[in-house]
Amino acid sequence: MKAFAILSLKGGVGKTTLAANLSTALSLMGRRVLLVDLDPLHDLTYSFGINAIETRGVEFLLEKDLKFEDVMVPLSENLHIIPAGKKLKDLELSLANMFVKAKDTYFCYLLRNVLEPLEDRYDYVFIDCPPYAGFVTINALVYAQNILMPVQCQHLGLESTKKTVSLISRVRKFNGLPRRELTVIPTMYDVRNRLSDQVIDRLNTMFPDALTGTRIRVNVALAEAPGFGKTIFEHQPDSHGAEDFRRLADEIAEKFENDAIPALPLAYVQALP
Ligand SMILES: Nc1ncnc2c1ncn2[C@@H]1O[C@H](COP(=O)(O)OP(=O)(O)OP(=O)(O)O)[C@@H](O)[C@H]1O
Ligand SMILES: [Mg+2]
Repeated sequence: MKAFAILSLKGGVGKTTLAANLSTALSLMGRRVLLVDLDPLHDLTYSFGINAIETRGVEFLLEKDLKFEDVMVPLSENLHIIPAGKKLKDLELSLANMFVKAKDTYFCYLLRNVLEPLEDRYDYVFIDCPPYAGFVTINALVYAQNILMPVQCQHLGLESTKKTVSLISRVRKFNGLPRRELTVIPTMYDVRNRLSDQVIDRLNTMFPDALTGTRIRVNVALAEAPGFGKTIFEHQPDSHGAEDFRRLADEIAEKFENDAIPALPLAYVQALP
């Protein structure tokens, strides 16, 4: 299982949209995908039409009150979600306080303890984080091997990207963990606006190896879909938004599954003309 934290310290850049639609695109390609909503505002949970107020969510797993099967909601055969419930906010505050008092890194590993036993069941897990460095975000960074950082192509102020990268490396250094792979995804790209290309140029300079070739264009259907409790693939499968997320899913699979391609059997190679 490949684990991705979806993170940016800037709000409204398309993290939740990325979580919902990239995961769905990969599940439609036959991958087994798990989503985790770690944002106490539970936008991701709502975007699948689940009422977070009535849901016992990820907070019950982090506190070990419930089992995975009691909390997970299947969205389709290949796509499952651990939703966020209304108590996630309280848990975030109480555990952060305990962490500060006890200075015990145990509190950074709660999410890992939940997800590690599931590693054979899924090909991918995507963790949607809130836009700040709270307790749950730190848990996501400690566990996930990979970080997806969406960047909105609407203004040149890219300070938040530096802050996000610095947070990632501080958390990992503090916990003595190896560096992990960063993937930067341009979102809300507007073909008619020169500023969007200026942002792409700057991102190319800042993150030459991490920037995806796929850009998620501005697309109203992407903004509408969560209101219907749908992803872009049910709401408007012919839209630019659906096309961009299909392309992104291909790119992500190519980047992260290369090592998983089995070598050809020797007999087959020898038989080649
Ligand atoms: N490519 C897009 N085109 C048009 N609208 C978009 C696009 N991507 C996201 N949006 C809209 O922009 C808003 C912010 O997106 P989203 O909620 O995904 O961001 P976020 O980073 O998760 O925000 P937060 O930091 O508050 O969690 C939403 O209303 C969403 O529908
Ligand atoms: Mg969000």
